[in-house]
Amino acid sequence: MIHLDANASTPIRAEILEAMLPWLRDGYANPSGSHREAKRARQAIEHARSQVAGWLGALPEEIVFTSGGTESINTALRSLDRNTGTGHGLVSAIEHSAVLRCAETLEREVMLMPVNAGGRLELDLLARGLPGAAFVSVMAANNETGVIQPLAEICAMAKAHGVPVHTDAVQAAGKMPFNVRGLGVDLASFSAHKFHGPKGVGALYVRCGTAFTPLLWGGSQEGGRRSGTENTAGIVAMGAAASLMQKLQETGGHGQLANLRDAFENKLLEELPGVAVNGDLRHRLPNTSHLSFDDCEAAGLLILLDEAGIACSAGSSCMSGRQRPSHVQVAMGIEETRARSSLRFSFSTMNTMGEAFAAAVMVSRAVEKLRRVQGSGVGPVQVYCT
Ligand SMILES: Cc1ncc(COP(=O)(O)O)c(C=O)c1O
Repeated sequence: MIHLDANASTPIRAEILEAMLPWLRDGYANPSGSHREAKRARQAIEHARSQVAGWLGALPEEIVFTSGGTESINTALRSLDRNTGTGHGLVSAIEHSAVLRCAETLEREVMLMPVNAGGRLELDLLARGLPGAAFVSVMAANNETGVIQPLAEICAMAKAHGVPVHTDAVQAAGKMPFNVRGLGVDLASFSAHKFHGPKGVGALYVRCGTAFTPLLWGGSQEGGRRSGTENTAGIVAMGAAASLMQKLQETGGHGQLANLRDAFENKLLEELPGVAVNGDLRHRLPNTSHLSFDDCEAAGLLILLDEAGIACSAGSSCMSGRQRPSHVQVAMGIEETRARSSLRFSFSTMNTMGEAFAAAVMVSRAVEKLRRVQGSGVGPVQVYCT
């Protein structure tokens, strides 16, 4: 199988698995204990904390380990809700469901900020929403289109009004340089399985001095900010993944991701008529290609590609199988037929150039086949949503 679904999840890299295995096998001591084995686990967690902090430009004490992106986001939004005054919340209309659904549970009004046709936040509308706002939450990069938001500008504008900013950096981390201090965010959410770590572990950056209320209460782990016995193996793996991502960044790995994505996209555009690339091309994650294929239902295409050995997604992975255009495409004003004919291909550092070229040929063949079937009057391929 050629895995072009890295925005859904990435494979654990061998060196990260190696780092984590001893902690699954033998390092089971509770890191809160006072004996030698417990202290060894504690040291491993603190080492991982410095690895994550070093990569993100944070202080170690600003990193709180969690169970993943969803928990980090829920913690951040609920904490902002508890610790800010009366005003409204501002979130972009293209956020992941972890942000949108959590925002719906808050007592206060949360306003959705529109994006332009390229999928970027309209800054003049943000400027109008900021007076009287309590907090802002805007994702660093979108999971479906890969479009990168002008986060530094957003933070500067919010700061001028004294409004704190959270960012969902789950997709950005590992695919573009991301420095919390440089950007000026107050809170930022991360998930290890999006950058070659395991599932079930993530981190929340909490800038020193930010008023904070935990989501989970109990044994006061993580400096009282996230209770629950730490997932030592997962945290060690996240630290190793962070170090690897830092190295990747320093050695031009993001450029290599872009080479893979561009080779795939260019070959496909050369070979096949009726293909459009969605999203702002100048501000895109280097690994993501969101494409629409004229006269082709994405649901049918997904099945043909799966049979051919290519894993990719229609819309965001959380919505696979649903035939409605995603909220992201709706927010960008992508017309319904085009939205229903779009697929996301997302590359990771584990893909090869050979795979990128082979995938372009296979996608091209599958699209031609589907167009012949649909053009023959057999009708659109039916996919029943589960
Ligand atoms: C942008 C974004 N935010 C949040 C999440 C949720 O992260 P996790 O799977 O770690 O809960 C995802 C996962 O798909 C995502 O893409």
